[in-house]
Amino acid sequence: MSSPLKIVTLLGSLRQGSYNAAIARALPTVAGEDVVVEALPSIRDIPVYDADLQAEGFPPAVIALADAIRAADGVVIVTPEYNYSVPGALKNAIDWLSRVPEQPFAGKPVAIQTASMGILGGARCQYHLRQVLVFLDCHVLNKPEVMIGAVQDKVNAAGELADTGTLKRLDEQLLAFTKFIRRLG
Ligand code: FNR
Repeated sequence: MSSPLKIVTLLGSLRQGSYNAAIARALPTVAGEDVVVEALPSIRDIPVYDADLQAEGFPPAVIALADAIRAADGVVIVTPEYNYSVPGALKNAIDWLSRVPEQPFAGKPVAIQTASMGILGGARCQYHLRQVLVFLDCHVLNKPEVMIGAVQDKVNAAGELADTGTLKRLDEQLLAFTKFIRRLG
């Protein structure tokens, strides 16, 4: 058997009780034996992008994130949709990462998952995010898409994803993503 793949999750919400965090936490439970899923460090401590700040040196939180992404075989971005687009904190983290030498997303396989309280599950954010990831030269998995609507009804009081259909969807995407990564080599 080939060696296990390391997949990391990048969370777009800073909220303590984030539903998207609950989705990200569920991923290791659906992952196959040939995959290890780990959470990336939070984007909370990344300052607002400023080229003058960059000229003084990249913030440690950006360097740590870049290193962890480089060390992974693939990244799953799990995020809410804000105002039909990518949340500012996530876009800000991506903006910083895009300026790091040996840009960590270049050639990196990426899958996207969005969860929202609305019925469309963050669909509009997904296509904005895809556009951003083109500039970073990522390889973004097309299908299956994971857009989880009415997420508040699918996560229980303990903060666990408790919806069989959604867990199955996560499993299907992770399986497809694993094959995608192996195909890209
Ligand atoms: C939202 N929300 C939201 N939902 C949606 O489906 N489409 C949208 O465009 C927006 N826009 C939006 C903007 C802002 C500023 C906030 C705070 C919220 C609602 C969003 O889906 C909901 O708050 C989720 O619970 C956020 O995800 P986390 O933090 O629970 O992971």
